[in-house]
Amino acid sequence: MPSLDGQTIILGVTGSIAAYKAADIASELTKLGAEVHCVMTKEATQIIAPLTLQVLSRNPVGVDLWDEGKGWQPGHIELADKADLLLVAPATANILACFAHGLAPDLLTAIYLATPAPVMVAPAMNGKMLAHPATQTNLETLRARGDLIIDPADGVLACGYEGPGKLAPVADIVRRVEEFLSGEKKKK
Ligand SMILES: Cc1cc2nc3c(=O)[nH]c(=O)nc-3n(C[C@H](O)[C@H](O)[C@H](O)COP(=O)(O)O)c2cc1C
Repeated sequence: MPSLDGQTIILGVTGSIAAYKAADIASELTKLGAEVHCVMTKEATQIIAPLTLQVLSRNPVGVDLWDEGKGWQPGHIELADKADLLLVAPATANILACFAHGLAPDLLTAIYLATPAPVMVAPAMNGKMLAHPATQTNLETLRARGDLIIDPADGVLACGYEGPGKLAPVADIVRRVEEFLSGEKKKK
């Protein structure tokens, strides 16, 4: 049986240049049996088309908080309630700040506040943005809250700098999700 069979994962995708890698993440998680629902920020749609994630995840992609569907329950609450995991990869400095401060101006941030599911974030950004005390404090806040951080890797960044800030390799992110969700399953 595929390792993620029966698991519902919300894959949050934000406006990092690494957003194109979310296509591989969505594809890998889907192939492992997960029901993947991608939720993109408006900025992420500048970098990768929602259609790409829709096809690879085999589910509609959420972008607009106000596109609520037809049910009585707000669509974002329904999705937040049924998730086993909220994975945000890549996570921008901005989304980390929104999460840390409880701001909910869009679909993904509203889901973060509404979901009872565990949260995993994989930051990706310019090294100076990552090193900034504001970003580091936001990461500490999320860690203290119990959110899981997949540390960014070292390498040559899209902005031309070399150092930490690169999205962790897709294979590592997928493995972390598998390990985490199999551990959660054993607890049940
Ligand atoms: C080409 C381009 C690449 C960007 N890459 C990153 C990135 O890797 N990480 C990051 O934190 N912000 C990056 N930004 C800035 C974010 O897109 C910007 O802060 C935006 O407001 C984030 O919105 P979101 O968090 O709602 O997706 C990039 C901007 C541009 C124009």
